[in-house]
Amino acid sequence: MYASIPITRAETLKEHPRDDELSFGEIFTDHMLLMDYNLADGWNNPRIEPYQAIALEPAATILHYAQAVFEGLKAFRTTDGRITLFRPREYMQRLTRSCERLCIPLLEPDLALHCIMELVKLESSWVPSSFGTSLYVRPFIIATDNHLGVRPSETYRFMIILSPVGAYYAEGFNPVSITVSDEFVRAVKGGTGDAKTPGNYAASLLASAQAKKEGYAQVLWLDGRERKYVDEVGTMNIFFVIDSALITPPLGGAILDGVTRKSVIQLAQEWGMPVKERMVSIDEVMEAGQSGALTEVFGSGTAAVVSPVGKLHYKGTVLAINDGKVGEFSQRLFEEITSIQYGKIPDRLGWNLEVC
Ligand code: COI
Repeated sequence: MYASIPITRAETLKEHPRDDELSFGEIFTDHMLLMDYNLADGWNNPRIEPYQAIALEPAATILHYAQAVFEGLKAFRTTDGRITLFRPREYMQRLTRSCERLCIPLLEPDLALHCIMELVKLESSWVPSSFGTSLYVRPFIIATDNHLGVRPSETYRFMIILSPVGAYYAEGFNPVSITVSDEFVRAVKGGTGDAKTPGNYAASLLASAQAKKEGYAQVLWLDGRERKYVDEVGTMNIFFVIDSALITPPLGGAILDGVTRKSVIQLAQEWGMPVKERMVSIDEVMEAGQSGALTEVFGSGTAAVVSPVGKLHYKGTVLAINDGKVGEFSQRLFEEITSIQYGKIPDRLGWNLEVC
């Protein structure tokens, strides 16, 4: 059991947006949580304060060397009026793994979760209720030593901010067009691709911008060594349905261990669909597309849940997947996961944690 966290309340409270105005990550709630780390005290002084700008010296390590990690999870208002978090322990365990990779001192997953629960409870009125909306929870840790030498910081700050959100992609659940980048890579084995750390996202921006210019919503990343095997799509894990089996690249160093990815695999197995976590080359995907064996492609992620792919471009060839329509399996997955999240069906897999 952790002690309750002291709160300094905001003097004026913001007006809440209407659910139909919500996009992704534009609006922030009234309060945020902060906690500090130093060598003498470890993680200490958790506190909730009004959401506001933070002061950092220009020499702060995070600003120069990106020593930082983050997470993104969601709180839902269920149809019977409770507030729940979706698989929060999985996210906090991943935060710990990211910390290890970035030389950031371990933050106990249970303590991090306690902080999230306290803040979400305080801000519960901000959890929107319409289908497709949620309260996005963004915990993150930044290195705060003021020092220009390249070494792990000795001080850190853990923070949590909250944002009521709607759909992540403008397309919503409609199929998106993606293009394979054969020029840029997102990550290599041995790098930081399996950690949730800002540098991975900065590294993806140029390829995404080019893809957008060419009319594609997202980039399909290939492995960094051979540029042959599929890794991820945009900020999501990727799945293919080939010959009625579900295929997704294996974890192993370069891709993120997605919580939605894990949920998709669990559901597919429960439904008796063969699931193969194996390397899949882009040539295999294109050939399966041309022969008709490839029937669905979709990305999975916290923000988008399931994002069907309707069009796939690689080296001048464009595949229309399932005639550009949402596939049956993607649809079923989206409905099952969101029904569990919104409490429309029983939480038989124990994925929801009740906050209040
Ligand atoms: C996710 O959907 O899991 C993400 O991390 C998206 C976020 C980077 C906006």
